[in-house]
Amino acid sequence: MKILVATEKHFAPKAVEAIRAKVEEAGHTLALLEKYTERSQLEDAVADADALIVRSDKIDAALMDKAPRLKIIVRAGAGYDNIDLAAATARNIVVENTPGQNSRAVAELVLGMAIMAGRNNYDGTTGCEISGKRVGLQAFGQVSRNVAKVLEGFGAKVSAVDPFCKAEVMKEHGVEPAESIEALYAGNDIVSIHIPATPQTVGSIGRALIASMPKGAILINTARKEVINEAELAEVLEERPDLKYFADVKPDNAAELVERFGTRVFFTPKKCGAQTREANMNAGIAAADQAVSFLATGKPRFKVN
Ligand code: 3PG
Repeated sequence: MKILVATEKHFAPKAVEAIRAKVEEAGHTLALLEKYTERSQLEDAVADADALIVRSDKIDAALMDKAPRLKIIVRAGAGYDNIDLAAATARNIVVENTPGQNSRAVAELVLGMAIMAGRNNYDGTTGCEISGKRVGLQAFGQVSRNVAKVLEGFGAKVSAVDPFCKAEVMKEHGVEPAESIEALYAGNDIVSIHIPATPQTVGSIGRALIASMPKGAILINTARKEVINEAELAEVLEERPDLKYFADVKPDNAAELVERFGTRVFFTPKKCGAQTREANMNAGIAAADQAVSFLATGKPRFKVN
């Protein structure tokens, strides 16, 4: 059968080699579409694919209609808001993600951004340390757990809020459960966002939460741009010259924010939290394993639809 890896943002070459080995070992053929620039390239490539491995590539109903043999889509990563789950279900296509495989890489980027913001983008002026700071994690999944682990070494005081995670689990990780999202924002020097983009979370972080942050606070977003109310973020940054916003998910109003607020905001040119050789290997091999296993057994491992 044909397994297509379609990644606009490509995997590291070593990861592609490892994926190919897995696929061919199982007797399948690997097709590779990397760094494509036109949607038509993706449409052509899926025409005879039995399985599809993607990253943040947009997979909607119209694309699925171009792929009559498609049985499974594996999102090599955690967030699957790029895939139309209802459309997949309606076409009897299983969708899986690869939970946890990118999480260390993203956690390290969170720390990198916290240090860069704390040190005023390394401009030589007096900055601040992470040590002793209060750090709040919004959601307590795999990335947050890795952030908490690293922060322990820094001597930060870490708290978290997550309606889907029990307080005992947070405590097992040395993390204090926060009373509410409001308490998390109002009570931490650094807040790191780790929620997915869902109908409930889109636009949910706006004026009320951001303006409640303590003096000199840093807001870090390595999750999804959609969860921020961008217009309200701009308003609060204007009113509060002490606040900073650093994100790996560039907002739509990035150019305006950079022009107005200079180094108080920072955006990676392209989402790079998971773009390490190690995360590419982890997520890529896991995705290939899951696709091969599903084609062999019909049993999904991390089904999300
Ligand atoms: C994820 O959801 O796993 C991350 O956002 C990584 O996305 P990427 O594969 O586009 O880098």
